[in-house]
Amino acid sequence: MTVRVPFVDLRVQHETLMPELMDAFRQVTESSAFAGGPFVAQFESEFAVFCQSQYALGVGSGTDAIWLALLSLGVGQGDEVITTPNAVLATAEAISICGARPVFVDIDERTYTMDPRHLERAITLRTQAIIPVHSFGQMADMDAIQAIASRHGTPIVEDACQAHGAEYKGRRAGSLGVVGCFSFYPGKNLGAFGEAGAITTEEPDLRARVQALRDHGQAAKNLHSTIGWNARMDGIQAAVLSVKLRRLEEGNQLRRAHARHYDELLADEPRVTRPSVAPYGKHVFHIYAVRVQDRDRVLERMAAKGVNCAVHYPLPIHLQKAYGFLGLRPGAFPVAERCAREFLSLPMYPELKPDEIEFVVDALKDSLGD
Ligand SMILES: Cc1ncc(COP(=O)(O)O)c(C=O)c1O
Repeated sequence: MTVRVPFVDLRVQHETLMPELMDAFRQVTESSAFAGGPFVAQFESEFAVFCQSQYALGVGSGTDAIWLALLSLGVGQGDEVITTPNAVLATAEAISICGARPVFVDIDERTYTMDPRHLERAITLRTQAIIPVHSFGQMADMDAIQAIASRHGTPIVEDACQAHGAEYKGRRAGSLGVVGCFSFYPGKNLGAFGEAGAITTEEPDLRARVQALRDHGQAAKNLHSTIGWNARMDGIQAAVLSVKLRRLEEGNQLRRAHARHYDELLADEPRVTRPSVAPYGKHVFHIYAVRVQDRDRVLERMAAKGVNCAVHYPLPIHLQKAYGFLGLRPGAFPVAERCAREFLSLPMYPELKPDEIEFVVDALKDSLGD
C-alpha cells in the first residue's frame, strides 16, 4: 500500500533548510569541533533564551538529561522518584539507573499528564524528586504539583522531552522545575540528526554538577571531582539544532493550526475523543492523539488506506515486563491503562497540508466501528 500521509515527514523541512544545514556542517568540519566545543556552547545559550531559563546544557539524549538531572540532585540507592506510567520507558529507566525506585501516579483524563489529586498520597519519606511528564506537548498542571512539592520540600524535574516551547501561564516548559529535561530525538518538535538532549536550570550549582557529570566528573581539565559519564552533546548536533531552533516557534504554530483543523473536522464525530487543551497553557502538539474504541483495528484499517498512525504507548510502564518487580497489576492506574488501549496518534508535523489532514480524517471516519 502506498503511503498517502506518513506519520512524520522530515524531508520537506530538511530540504528547506538545506543551505543553512550545509553551511553548519562546513563550519563544524572546518573547526573540527566535534565533541562539545563552541557550537554546543552557542546552542546552549540560544536554547536557554528560548526556554526562558538561565542555563541550558547539551547532553547525549533525553534519557541522559533525566538521569543526570536526578544524579545532580543526589538521587540514589533506596530513594523514590514519582512520575506517570504512560510515558516512554526512558523516564522510569533514568530513575532506575540512579538506583532509585519509580513510583507512579495516574494521569488526568483530559490533559494526559500527572493528576495532582493523586500526588500527595504517593509521597513518602524516601521521595527525592517528582517528574511530571509534559505528555504530547502539553504541560502538566504545574501550580498544583508545585504546591504539593513545596509542602514536602521535594524538587520537581520536568520531563519536557515532548514539549519544546510549550507554556504554562506564559512560562515555558523547562523553566518551572528545578531542572527541565529535553530530548532532541529526530522526530521531536526540535530534532537533531541523531541522539541529543538538554537540561535547563536556574541554579548555578546544579549547572556545575551536570557540567561535570556529563564529562567524566571533570570539574576542570583532568581534575575529576566525582565519577561521571560521557554524556556530552556532539558539535554537529548542536549546529543542526541551532539552525532548526530558528524555525521552532513557527513549527509549533503550524502544529497548533493543524490541531485546530483536525478538531474542526472531528467535532461532529462522537466515536472520537479529541485532545483537550488546558486553559492554563499552550500545547505544542508534538503528538495529536485521539481516543477510539477498538484502536488496533482502526490503526490497521488506516494503514490500509495509506495513512500511517502511531500509538504512544500501547502498554503503560508498570505493566511492562521490565518493571514486573514493582508488583503492580492491571487496574493500578485505570486512566493510564484505558488511554493506552484507546490512544491513536494521527500524523502531525509542521509541513502537513490541509488536504492531507482532510484525507486522514476521512480515513479515520471510514475506519471506525459502530
Ligand atoms: C517523554 C519522554 N521522556 C524521555 C524521552 C527520552 O528521550 P531520548 O529518546 O532522547 O533519550 C522521550 C523520548 O522519546 C520522551 O518522549
